[in-house]
Amino acid sequence: MTKNTFYVTTPIYYVTAKPHLGSLYSTLLADVIARWHKLQGNETFLLTGTDEHGQKVARAAVAVGKEPKAFVDSFIPAYLDAWQKYEIAYTKFIRTTDPSHIKGVQHLIKKLLASGDIYKDTYMGWYCTPCETFVTSKDTGTVTEAPLCPSCGRETEMVSEETYFFRLSAYQDKLLQFYKNNPNFIVPKERLNEVISFVESGLKDLSISRTTVTWGIPFPDDAAHRVYVWLDALTNYITGVGYGDPRQAAEFAKWWPADLQILGKDIVRFHAVYWLSFLMAAQLPLPRRMLVHGWIQVNKQKMSKSLGNVVDPMVLQEAYGVDEVRYYLMRYIPVNQDGEFSTGDLERAIETDLANDLGNLLNRMVGLAEKYGVMKITPSNVWEQAALDLRDECWNMIEDVTEYMQEYMIHLALARVWKYINLVNAYFHGQEPWKLAKKDPALFMQVLSATAHSLYVVGQLLWPIMPHKMEALLASLGLTFAVHDDSVDALERNPWHQTFMLKKIPTLFAKPMEDANMTDEHKNVSTQPEVQVDNYISIDDVVKVELLVGTIEECESVENSDKLLKFQVNFGAKGMRQILAGIKKYYMPEDLIGKQGVFIFNLKPRKMLGTESQGMMLVVHDADGMPRMVAPRVAVPNGQRLQ
Ligand code: MSP
Repeated sequence: MTKNTFYVTTPIYYVTAKPHLGSLYSTLLADVIARWHKLQGNETFLLTGTDEHGQKVARAAVAVGKEPKAFVDSFIPAYLDAWQKYEIAYTKFIRTTDPSHIKGVQHLIKKLLASGDIYKDTYMGWYCTPCETFVTSKDTGTVTEAPLCPSCGRETEMVSEETYFFRLSAYQDKLLQFYKNNPNFIVPKERLNEVISFVESGLKDLSISRTTVTWGIPFPDDAAHRVYVWLDALTNYITGVGYGDPRQAAEFAKWWPADLQILGKDIVRFHAVYWLSFLMAAQLPLPRRMLVHGWIQVNKQKMSKSLGNVVDPMVLQEAYGVDEVRYYLMRYIPVNQDGEFSTGDLERAIETDLANDLGNLLNRMVGLAEKYGVMKITPSNVWEQAALDLRDECWNMIEDVTEYMQEYMIHLALARVWKYINLVNAYFHGQEPWKLAKKDPALFMQVLSATAHSLYVVGQLLWPIMPHKMEALLASLGLTFAVHDDSVDALERNPWHQTFMLKKIPTLFAKPMEDANMTDEHKNVSTQPEVQVDNYISIDDVVKVELLVGTIEECESVENSDKLLKFQVNFGAKGMRQILAGIKKYYMPEDLIGKQGVFIFNLKPRKMLGTESQGMMLVVHDADGMPRMVAPRVAVPNGQRLQ
């Protein structure tokens, strides 16, 4: 069906912490897919936001002595910041504490009360607070003692209270019929089978209110009840585009049903069963598709706050760059499976794919043109066979990429683009344009032109993944990126008749710094032109930093890291500390045992790849780029402070 609007949603995130790489992943998928649709000239709506009510959030707030609203408010800037940094072009950021959302949820409930889909009764059963879910005997068998939650494995608790029920059982057949009629509803397909067998095994009515939880939306006309957090949260997908507000009826009609809802594999049941039946009950159209992604793992375990193995996207982008991280996640964490996060892979991706394959190709082409005074590349009237072959391949590649993107197999689309980039590299190299420059200027120009056209297409296709870098790439070809003029269709038919006005730009992709521990610091230093007068610090700032001498007693390498070594450092009376440093490439652990060095002792502890570092080793790079530990000239007592 041809449409010129595209509405995509992300799950809304529990705000008990700042966003981690898993939350970024769901959101990034939505951004990339929305941008892909923008590229086709479609008008897009990307909805994301935060899930702020419920027992889980309320308890987390109590644990730190805060009111729930103040608690959730405190995390919002971190979300907005992270999404802005990562170039997430959302249309709306919804919070479930927004008054318009609250009204929308109450409107939906009134509708379901009126249609007889909601009734009052008593619920008695087990509840898993981390998952905010009722654990039924279907999940556990009949038990008398608190069972563990079948989904997260944590302990459940008994809930016995009067609640409102949603007549989920009435939708069993309708759901099964819907899945049958829409076998492609869920991507990847296999996930639909899990849903079907869950529904086939029988649906019980669902408790949708709590009287023992006060942090939630009041039930209409019965405020002793608070709306069950999942009903509240799922409804964001419609309130976000105006549901429940008569003034926004046109907006709602324009966007709903969503074209795509993105979610992780842990929350499929809530979306493909509960959400669809709420919509059926409200007689609203169902979303067109759902994309279910796997988990980002560290050491084969889901990255999650409770496991303490989360990677902070802000730290990552500072060290490696936003578009670089976007590329890595989209290419190397396949959307249809779980994927292992590793900084080694990330660095390899930057070095090999981005800096060598793509960045160097652009550099070599522009550099060579410049060397021979060519700033304007004109197209050929007659193309040699090699260039024609390359153009055919380019068109094939666009077709393949389009197909992959229609199925949201972004990692495959990217692999296909890289296959083409490698072909362009082989073409450029094989033509030996540096020899043609003098011998055959027309053919020289043709090689430049074919390469520039290829880069132009690649730049357009990769824009959804790396918007900022690809705009820079296109700028170096003299083009200003504009979404509506460059639909993928237009690229596919493009007969390569473009003129390019070359512009020199800074290196597109820098190779990752060698030293993980010092990366941020290096970056800051290297981007500052000169020390300015107002950069002076006062003596008060100096004394804030506790620089102590310590001796390395133990040293081992951090598993799954190419860079990190882990030290146990003896600071005398001040005790032992575990400190990580990114110098693994240069030293064997045993080289450093017994050595004295200088460490920042009062640096806030932070985790690197799940391992805590309780300070920082000072190093300085020698003339060969080798990091050397900073140390006193003579041995001094451990724990001595530098002055
Ligand atoms: N608040 C609910 C969703 C309500 S949607 C109406 C929730 N929140 S969550 O913060 O726990 O998870 C949100 C999304 O992040 C889910 O899709 C989940 O799969 C995803 N991720 C959380 N950790 C993840 C990884 N380690 N890897 C990839 N995504 C994971 O569930």
